[in-house]
Amino acid sequence: MLDIERMPEHVAIIMDGNGRWAKKRGLPRLAGHNAGMKAMKKIADHSDKLGIKYLTVYAFSTENWKRSIAEVTGIFKLLVAYVESDLKELVTNNVKVNVLGDYSSLPEDAVRSLERTLRETKDNTGLVFNIALNYGGRDEITRAVQSIEEKISSGLLTADEITEKTISDELFTGSARADTPDPELIIRTSGELRLSNFLLWQGAYSELVFSDVLWPDFTPQEYEKAIADYQSRERRFGGR
Ligand code: FPP
Repeated sequence: MLDIERMPEHVAIIMDGNGRWAKKRGLPRLAGHNAGMKAMKKIADHSDKLGIKYLTVYAFSTENWKRSIAEVTGIFKLLVAYVESDLKELVTNNVKVNVLGDYSSLPEDAVRSLERTLRETKDNTGLVFNIALNYGGRDEITRAVQSIEEKISSGLLTADEITEKTISDELFTGSARADTPDPELIIRTSGELRLSNFLLWQGAYSELVFSDVLWPDFTPQEYEKAIADYQSRERRFGGR
């Protein structure tokens, strides 16, 4: 049973295992991503029901460009289909969509439909749904350093004024729009035990929960199991 008083405010998920899910069924990899997208939608709905304020999903990493053109193009087609078909629902459900990552290099139609989604959900006050696209933790920190350097060069900041907050504020999660606190819980599916360049700075004190279930099979019930696992732990942040 979940303790409603101790729900994480921010859950982040590495949605892994779509390819293996498809392979097990003798289906093309894209069928796995399609099933993964459906799982993603259910988990977003369920997050809202559980009173989670921020949900971040790792949908496409800076390294995923190395996959075949067909797979990459297919993933973005799915993304467009998702935002286009579910946009109305996102708006009525008061979900605020936000992108983590430099999405300007995505295919043009994906950029267009993302921008529309960002625009149409910008005043929503419910679940903040961060989709990490062309996202990498090291890339994010590199960009933050560049931006801080520019502020120093233009006299807006001195080196000794830099604090951890200065850095957090420069990350994609620290933008005025996302304004997302560090995740208390990071979940990775499919039995892989790595962070894979996800939320490197923000995840410093996150509890990690690994599920053996492949992402398309990750149901709201599995999600609640992961949250229950999180709730059974004691968080000390380096203290005693
Ligand atoms: C990891 O599985 C999944 C991805 C790299 C893509 C995630 C995409 C979706 C959940 C659906 C599309 C939705 C959006 C918002 C773009 P994998 O392919 O690494 O699986 P494998 O490790 O079994 O090969």
